[in-house]
Amino acid sequence: MDTNVIELERRDDGIAVITLTNGKVNALSGAVLDGLHAIATELRADLPKVIIVTGGERIFAAGADISEFGGPDEAAVITRRFHDALGALAALPRLVIAEVAGYALGGGCELAMACDYRIASTKAVFGQPEILLGIIPGGGGTQRLARLVGPSRAKELCITGRQVRADEALRIGLADEVVEPDALRPRVLELAESVAAGATVAQALTKAAIDRGLDGDLDTGLGVERELFTEVFRSSDSQVGVASFLEHGPGKANFTGS
Ligand code: COA
Repeated sequence: MDTNVIELERRDDGIAVITLTNGKVNALSGAVLDGLHAIATELRADLPKVIIVTGGERIFAAGADISEFGGPDEAAVITRRFHDALGALAALPRLVIAEVAGYALGGGCELAMACDYRIASTKAVFGQPEILLGIIPGGGGTQRLARLVGPSRAKELCITGRQVRADEALRIGLADEVVEPDALRPRVLELAESVAAGATVAQALTKAAIDRGLDGDLDTGLGVERELFTEVFRSSDSQVGVASFLEHGPGKANFTGS
């Protein structure tokens, strides 16, 4: 893995921080995507409690590295690389929080959308500007954007290449929270720390139930929920949580994460 373009920090409190460090604009080159894939594989083998994905202060990520574009053969490799790396990140059974301080364009927006929750600064800008290059999103943008903001808005954004500022991103559901730039890292850590102290098994099953349910119809989704609701009662934290509720009331349990 090229640690000059992407870094992984594993903190003692169970929070893993993935930081894009690829030059001025954090282009998502093949090296960055391979590094992200390697990090996701490493995290899956030794899971943290929660994951943060962040980029630069002015530019979260400016998208695919346009200098690596060529013809259809190169395109096939690039889109596969994006889907593999972002898919591996999205599939991690932990909450993945995107911390978006600035521009998240093209693949940058796609990376943010592959995370479970996006906290943005007031300076963040989102968009899928590929159309301005005469191409379409290839890192999951056509699919994840439509799932987040609905098909009409996704079509408008991808077909015009219009960029949206943080306030609009929040309004349409592309960002989940928007805070002042100085408050961004503290708020991301506040959420990450509270999740890290929670019932990890139940969190993982919650994510799985929601993600797997979104792939199919309601009945299939409810079937997934029945399966995972049953499974969660095998976790030790479910015993801790229920016993604590009965003895001390809600929200007092000290979970172990198992
Ligand atoms: N891939 C490769 N190089 C990129 C890039 C990308 N996605 N985005 C920017 N760059 C390069 C620029 O060509 C420029 O190179 P140069 O210094 O050799 O001239 C350098 O990074 C700085 O870009 P610039 O546009 O001058 O910086 P800026 O601060 O004015 O704007 C952005 C930053 C991110 C808003 C702007 O670069 C941008 O819109 N980038 C393209 C986003 C995009 O279309 N992504 C989809 C890709 S399919």
